[in-house]
Amino acid sequence: MSVGETGSWHAALIVFLTLIAGIVITVTGDSLETDKQVLLNLKSFLKDRNPVYHGQYIKWNQSFSPCEWAGILCNTNGTRVTGINLSYENISGELFNNFSALTELSYLDFSNNTINGEIPGDLSRCKNLKHLNLSHNIILGELNLSGLPNLEVLDLSINRISGDIQSSFPSICGKLIVANISANNFTGRIDTCFQKCSNLQYLDLSANNFSGEIWVGFDRLREFSVSENVLVGTVSPPMFTPNCNLQVLDLSENGFFGPFPAEISNCRNLLILNLWGNNFNGLIPADIGSISGLRALFLGNNSFYKGNTRDPFELY
Ligand SMILES: *[C@@H]1O[C@H](CO)[C@@H](O)[C@H](O)[C@H]1NC(C)=O
Ligand SMILES: *[C@@H]1O[C@H](CO)[C@@H](O)[C@H](O)[C@H]1NC(C)=O
Ligand SMILES: *[C@@H]1O[C@H](CO)[C@@H](O)[C@H](O)[C@H]1NC(C)=O
Ligand SMILES: *[C@@H]1O[C@H](CO)[C@@H](O)[C@H](O)[C@H]1NC(C)=O
Ligand SMILES: *[C@@H]1O[C@H](CO)[C@@H](O)[C@H](O)[C@H]1NC(C)=O
Ligand SMILES: *[C@@H]1O[C@H](CO)[C@@H](O)[C@H](O)[C@H]1NC(C)=O
Ligand SMILES: *[C@@H]1O[C@H](CO)[C@@H](O)[C@H](O)[C@H]1NC(C)=O
Ligand SMILES: *[C@@H]1O[C@H](CO)[C@@H](O)[C@H](O)[C@H]1NC(C)=O
Ligand SMILES: *[C@@H]1O[C@H](CO)[C@@H](O)[C@H](O)[C@H]1NC(C)=O
Ligand SMILES: *[C@@H]1O[C@H](CO)[C@@H](O)[C@H](O)[C@H]1NC(C)=O
Ligand SMILES: *[C@@H]1O[C@H](CO)[C@@H](O)[C@H](O)[C@H]1NC(C)=O
Ligand SMILES: *[C@@H]1O[C@H](CO)[C@@H](O)[C@H](O)[C@H]1NC(C)=O
Repeated sequence: MSVGETGSWHAALIVFLTLIAGIVITVTGDSLETDKQVLLNLKSFLKDRNPVYHGQYIKWNQSFSPCEWAGILCNTNGTRVTGINLSYENISGELFNNFSALTELSYLDFSNNTINGEIPGDLSRCKNLKHLNLSHNIILGELNLSGLPNLEVLDLSINRISGDIQSSFPSICGKLIVANISANNFTGRIDTCFQKCSNLQYLDLSANNFSGEIWVGFDRLREFSVSENVLVGTVSPPMFTPNCNLQVLDLSENGFFGPFPAEISNCRNLLILNLWGNNFNGLIPADIGSISGLRALFLGNNSFYKGNTRDPFELY
């Protein structure tokens, strides 16, 4: 083979490989053009289910790049769609079931609509998702987000999701910073779910039907709320370590009992402590007074004793 022949053979191979690469990219959805197609599918999906009131998506126009469409976020060089923000858009019907075709999607906000039905299995295949906000909808069914290991912010508050949370926690814990699943219909235990969530700072589990005992590691969070559940058991002294990081602790309206530990004074940054509506008894730990930043303290509707008398007294 001469040098010239080898050269043109190489050129042909390069052209061939480029074609293959192009086809592969198109097939796997790795381009702005396929992102656009998926979003146009989303638009007609939403239009079909919302014949009367349309949101901003109705203006999405094929003649423009999707990066210029209202509610769409792209990466900085405008080569891929990375986010969808359609909160406050009066959207009804089920959640779109092909978000995973947007392979660079990292931000999804459909909060404050009236989306119903279950979370489709497809959503759990959006493995680059970092921010998911579906709060203030009427979503049902059980939760399994185990395919989302990169989540940092999760807000599912104010929906009707039921069942336990073991299929999602701890599997999505690695990078999670905020988890708000308050005001749903969750049940089951919480004590083994969050130990591996080493970056977690804000955990709101309030207004569900969680049962069993408290999660022992909660004092490294900034905010921990489990109010309005059916948790039981005692809160023991080792739960408040010298590294306690809590700013907000809300245990109100559960079935906790026994004395409340004086070690709460380890939580030097505490701003709000709410123990209202449990069966705590014994003396109120005087050490609470040493937490200088404490702004709000709710101790009422328990069985605490005042000083060394035996008379329960009114506290709010
Ligand atoms: C999802 O979108 C891709 C790209 O547009 C398309 O090829 C695929 O058929 C869609 N899948 C479903 C289930 O709609
Ligand atoms: C899309 O934009 C083009 C160019 O500005 C315009 O001519 C067309 O009417 C628009 N289409 C829709 C459906 O708004
Ligand atoms: C665009 O930016 C992304 C990161 O956001 C990068 O991965 C990609 O290579 C860039 N593409 C081009 C064509 O510059
Ligand atoms: C999402 O949209 C809402 C309402 O339009 C807006 O308040 C919010 O700032 C948006 N979020 C982002 C990240 O653009
Ligand atoms: C939800 O959106 C509506 C407007 O569509 C607004 O009036 C309402 O205040 C919002 N609710 C919340 C909790 O943000
Ligand atoms: C949302 O829907 C309500 C009726 O359900 C309507 O009154 C309101 O104008 C709609 N808002 C928008 C922004 O479309
Ligand atoms: C989720 O959306 C709601 C309503 O739009 C908003 O109030 C809330 O702050 C958002 N949650 C997070 C964690 O950003
Ligand atoms: C949760 O979904 C994953 C796939 O995303 C699946 O492998 C797993 O079995 C599911 N778990 C349960 C409890 O359904
Ligand atoms: C969780 O969501 C509810 C309702 O959307 C909100 O009131 C609450 O402040 C949120 N919790 C945290 C820790 O952000
Ligand atoms: C808790 O469970 C009870 C009994 O199953 C039910 O009546 C109640 O509505 C549930 N509460 C919440 C907040 O889901
Ligand atoms: C919560 O789930 C229970 C059954 O597990 C059901 O009886 C109850 O109506 C549900 N409550 C809400 C508010 O969805
Ligand atoms: C005290 O708290 C419990 C919940 O733990 C609640 O059921 C009860 O109604 C509360 N009592 C008063 C007087 O509010």
